[in-house]
Amino acid sequence: MGVLGPIKPIARSIDPDAAHRLKATLSWPHLIAMGVGAIVGTGIYTLIGVGAERAGPAVILAFFVAGAVCACAALAYAELATMIPTAGSAYTYTYSVVGETLAWVVGWSLILEYSLACSTVAVGWSGYLVGWLQSAGLHLPALLLNGPHAGGLVNLPAVLVSLAIAGMLMAGTRESATLNIVLVVIKLVALSAFVALSLPAFDATHLHPFMPYGFASHADGSSTKGVMAAAAIVFFAFYGFDAVATSAEEARNPGRDLTIGIIGSMALCTTIYILVAIAAIGAMPFATLGNSPEPLALVLRTLHHPFASWAIAGAALVALPSVILVMMYGQSRIFFVMARDGLLPPVLAKVSKRTGSPVLVTGITGLFVAAVAGFFRLDEIAELANAGTLIAFIAVGGCMMILRRRAPDAARVFRCPQPYVVGTLAILGCLYLLFSLPEKTLVRFLLWNLFGLAVYFAYSRSRSVLTRAAVKI
Ligand code: ALA
Repeated sequence: MGVLGPIKPIARSIDPDAAHRLKATLSWPHLIAMGVGAIVGTGIYTLIGVGAERAGPAVILAFFVAGAVCACAALAYAELATMIPTAGSAYTYTYSVVGETLAWVVGWSLILEYSLACSTVAVGWSGYLVGWLQSAGLHLPALLLNGPHAGGLVNLPAVLVSLAIAGMLMAGTRESATLNIVLVVIKLVALSAFVALSLPAFDATHLHPFMPYGFASHADGSSTKGVMAAAAIVFFAFYGFDAVATSAEEARNPGRDLTIGIIGSMALCTTIYILVAIAAIGAMPFATLGNSPEPLALVLRTLHHPFASWAIAGAALVALPSVILVMMYGQSRIFFVMARDGLLPPVLAKVSKRTGSPVLVTGITGLFVAAVAGFFRLDEIAELANAGTLIAFIAVGGCMMILRRRAPDAARVFRCPQPYVVGTLAILGCLYLLFSLPEKTLVRFLLWNLFGLAVYFAYSRSRSVLTRAAVKI
């Protein structure tokens, strides 16, 4: 056992006992749809506005920076996901490469990533719903549409959509993944239509000055400005491909399916985002974009395309829940694997015989997601989700490089090109994004992890399956 806790042997993690194994039902079309399903969501539909407020027209550049960092992380993910094809993604890799204590920190950070990403998307969804209903002349009581931070009581639509998705997942992965494919198509068609309708109205004067707040992130009154401040928030738009890696154990042919799933979905989404950002910024002044809870619908309304505006909001309403679906799926699997390793109560690792999915843990996740979505602010939830994700990406970059050194000849189904360059760029890029987040987010993130470590030392460490096995020997 190292100073960082026991290390989980890679071979062992491939063959958990049958009672605690997830069913292998997914192949690469499911995975690419899961990837795009999780990647394209509130990041491009809503946070593009927050990004524009923080960076001005240079939000286009912010998308590029965040996309480049994520591409490096995606390559590292693909190598590890195919080498260690079990559920748990960054948590499992860290457990198998560095040790249990850091794996716990990564797992605890992943809880923020997946759960809060679900909550963020639920709030973004609610924004489009309200705009959509209003354009149809329907006005719901404001108290039930916003959390207390915006003068309301609870964001009820966000709560309801979170609970509905949890229910779907509890009914079984297979049906949910197939439905996801349909939703992904709707989402991609809507964004392509947005670009096609907005680009003809492109006005180059909207791009000047391109970087009104400079490049580096800095506090500006109560907000944070600069291209990096925007990159740190629109980073949200890029992740989700890692949720594909969490499903490794359920892939029929992990080597082929995961490589195509991760790299393919990532490349497709990055291209679409840059096009959408150029089209949106060219269509209207960035400040207007920044104030809207449904910026893409606003652009189309302003360009006198009322039907298209209504349709893109409708597409968001139908399709954004697919992001919640994939992220919540990823979250339940993280909890599940941590419980299977003995670090969380074993009851959470129980798989339903009927649906083949961990029902209890999915229900708990749904309640947590709904509670956060009902009461907190969109940008603050997204920032905290990003902080958790950035830690996971840093761990993945590090683990890939350590394994290259420690086991250079081990079989690798997918080999990351230039692993040390890509791994180092992923780590440095993620650190730069992390420290570009507002200070209060970093403090909250630190507190979350201190709480997590307290749980680890008080409960999990002594109950770890690996530690107990070592003591028996
Ligand atoms: N990338 C996902 C989104 O933008 C989380 O909604």
